[in-house]
Amino acid sequence: MEPQIETGYPPKAPWRVGDIEIVPCSEHIGAEVRGVDLNALTDEQFAVLHDAWLKHLVLLFRDQRLSESGQLAFSRRFGDLDLAPKDQNGRPELPDFPEMAVISNVVENGRAIGALGSSEAVWHIDMSYNPIPPKGSALYALEVPPSGGDTGFLSCYAAYDGLPEALKRRAEGVTIKHDATLNSTGQQRTHLEPAHDVRTSAGAVHPAVHIHPETGRRALYLGRRTNGYVTGLSVADSEALLDELWAATTRDDIAWHHQWRVGDLVLWDNRCAMHRRDAFDPGARRVMHRTQIKGTKPCN
Ligand code: SIN
Repeated sequence: MEPQIETGYPPKAPWRVGDIEIVPCSEHIGAEVRGVDLNALTDEQFAVLHDAWLKHLVLLFRDQRLSESGQLAFSRRFGDLDLAPKDQNGRPELPDFPEMAVISNVVENGRAIGALGSSEAVWHIDMSYNPIPPKGSALYALEVPPSGGDTGFLSCYAAYDGLPEALKRRAEGVTIKHDATLNSTGQQRTHLEPAHDVRTSAGAVHPAVHIHPETGRRALYLGRRTNGYVTGLSVADSEALLDELWAATTRDDIAWHHQWRVGDLVLWDNRCAMHRRDAFDPGARRVMHRTQIKGTKPCN
């Protein structure tokens, strides 16, 4: 029998609070929020956005005009921010805004202005290789390529809900080591030893199923596939279980793919949504600014 996926959550039809309209982008994840200027958000509007974020996991705001300070101020409404990862030379990408990361393929004067280049980024949860990953990320589009570079999101709640019962029970009982050695485009992080043995390589361990601290819902929490390891199992048994969990998770029917326009801001809940990015023409420019909201407690 096909696994049954819970219906009725998130809301399936557009809904409205005052001037704010929330339009679902797909059945399980994503909603476009209309009628807000993120530069001038009132406390009442923020409360609506926060509720919509918990319900829809990913929010899209079109046609925003955000400076670096504006994006930082909006992101801080959700909590303290993580410092952005440093560039290859150990320096912040934007020294005046150390909490802002640049995601870009652009090279200026021989220096990459940001991270992740133009290749595909595989499904992942941001920084789940750390003991306390960020609870959310906000990505704002400054320049986008004419095609490609779409970002996909999938619901880890729906992934959990849709697991066959036997697999759900196995997932409930295990913890997974989330690999730290590769970034989401498959590049080796140069300050870490390559993962010669997944049982001992660098990473953080989290339960495969965790309870979202604000919604109380159960979510599958997989991180990245490559070099993942189910602790305590033989490598062969770990690979087999991970293959089953990943096949049950990376399904088109629980995902939504966003095609970017300049001025889009997308905010995702990193505790219950995974994301990936399509490759794009390396000769085209894509420049995005990303902020990350600190996690408030360990996922385990
Ligand atoms: C990311 O994985 O944080 C970046 C996604 C993107 O470039 O669309």
